[in-house]
Amino acid sequence: MARRRIIAGNWKMNMTPSQAVELVNTLKDLVVNDAVDVVYCVPAIDIVPVVEAVKGSNVAVGAENMYIEDKGAFTGEISAPMLVDAGVKYVIIGHSERRDYFKEDDAFLNAKVKKAFEAGLTPILCCGESLEQRESGVTMDWIRLQIKSDLVGVTADQVKSMVIAYEPIWAIGTGKTATSDQAQEVCKGIRDLIAEIYDTDTAEAVRIQYGGSMNASNAAELLSKPDIDGGLIGGASLKADFGQIVNA
Ligand code: 13P
Repeated sequence: MARRRIIAGNWKMNMTPSQAVELVNTLKDLVVNDAVDVVYCVPAIDIVPVVEAVKGSNVAVGAENMYIEDKGAFTGEISAPMLVDAGVKYVIIGHSERRDYFKEDDAFLNAKVKKAFEAGLTPILCCGESLEQRESGVTMDWIRLQIKSDLVGVTADQVKSMVIAYEPIWAIGTGKTATSDQAQEVCKGIRDLIAEIYDTDTAEAVRIQYGGSMNASNAAELLSKPDIDGGLIGGASLKADFGQIVNA
């Protein structure tokens, strides 16, 4: 069973609402590709204008974060039902920047994954090791722990529909991409883990992305690997290069 490729941009804390609309319009013709799912994960304040700007195109909109409650006294937070009502389809959960800077732990991320499914959003669940962990040889142990903890209570059918993004922290925003063999090794390890926790059907269905300094020149090589089903792209998603990645 062939898995459909998914190329997602993570804009992070970039683009004001007017810049966001300008970027969507600039990329519009460059990202056309019926064989691939294309997603822009954008800052919360850009969601409404970006959903409007992508109407009629092949692009879906994702959020970069959400809270675990539906509504109430949680000043500054945004709920899953709010995202759904605004037209959002995907949500990034557990990006290393949220784990590190905002101290989000696996129990909290597990609650977010479950809430996303409950609301009808597709989670893009991120995992990844630090340079120190890679050098100490604990990469796969660490990633297995993250994924296992984040998927507690999540069903096989839900996992089949979700996206997991492997993003080595040392490769994010550094220009230092993992080699395609390093990325393939971990993405395969994640798929093997899903087979172990669930079954081979689930493992064959779940889509696994690589993220970390993916760009127009290394995307084709990374995407040629059997267990890499797409990319989660930061810096290069803010320019025309994103179109080249979609078409790689
Ligand atoms: P860069 O592509 O800028 O390295 O960022 C990767 C990333 O963190 C995507 O979520």
